[in-house]
Amino acid sequence: MVTAATPLVERLDWDSEFFGIEIGRARTGRLDASLAERLASDARAAGFACVYFAAAAEDFETVVAAEGLGCHLVDVRVVLERPAEGPLPPPTAHAEFRIEPGSADDLPRLEAIAIDVARASRYAADQRFPREDTERLYRTWIRNAWNGYVDAVLVAHAGDGEVLGFVCPKMHGELCDLQLVGVASAQRQRRVGRGLVSAGIAWGCERGAARLQVVTQGRNVPAQRLYQQLGFLTTEVKLYYHLWLTPAGR
Ligand SMILES: CC(C)(COP(=O)(O)OP(=O)(O)OC[C@H]1O[C@@H](n2cnc3c(N)ncnc32)[C@H](O)[C@@H]1OP(=O)(O)O)[C@@H](O)C(=O)NCCC(=O)NCCS
Repeated sequence: MVTAATPLVERLDWDSEFFGIEIGRARTGRLDASLAERLASDARAAGFACVYFAAAAEDFETVVAAEGLGCHLVDVRVVLERPAEGPLPPPTAHAEFRIEPGSADDLPRLEAIAIDVARASRYAADQRFPREDTERLYRTWIRNAWNGYVDAVLVAHAGDGEVLGFVCPKMHGELCDLQLVGVASAQRQRRVGRGLVSAGIAWGCERGAARLQVVTQGRNVPAQRLYQQLGFLTTEVKLYYHLWLTPAGR
């Protein structure tokens, strides 16, 4: 719980080390003018360069206070869920590709596709994060996923073995989170994404998931339509801001 004595920003160790700058996260999703002042002064006192702020989208006072601080809107984060029960999409029966656990040989292609996925991210939307760092972040995510951060890396392979895309499911109790869904740009709109997400749903159901979750961006219409077709409904929308406290140029 945030009390009057708790600093409104906490340090994100992993992000700070990865980007080589001090990065923090707001401990609140709501601001008014006086909390906004406190957040900025706590962040400055702790020496943060950048603070992530996930704002309650429906709270107009928060939006005005965030804008007043100079927060930069980088993402509209949309969470969608579907129950495990109910009609499952028919199993993928595409002659052109098969979906199966990836192999170590796939990793270089998975990294290349992850870089494609990075283009829709909030880091790409914020020019203060250099493009090389954003790409390095997504390469690191897929490598970490491969090394066990998720429970499986399911890969779509073409008949000749080419890697077309991936989905990375992770169980959290009864919730199966389908993380990092991506299809190579040259292979999109050929039903690979639908096959991958369907395979992820089946994977979660086999492991006892009661619900499945996906997260995407408000600007990502292809992903939203894909998830909606497969029975996912929006459960949460957050406005994601970055507040920079150091001048551009670092
Ligand atoms: C989102 C993504 C995974 C879709 O993969 P895909 O293989 O192109 O999608 P599919 O061909 O299986 O399409 C399934 C449905 O998604 C929707 N869709 C896919 N691409 C679309 C586009 N460009 N515009 C609108 N809708 C689109 C459609 O509803 C489509 O159904 P339809 O073919 O009956 O119209 C792919 O565009 C991608 O990798 N994007 C970058 C990474 C990303 O956004 N990841 C997900 C969330 S972070």
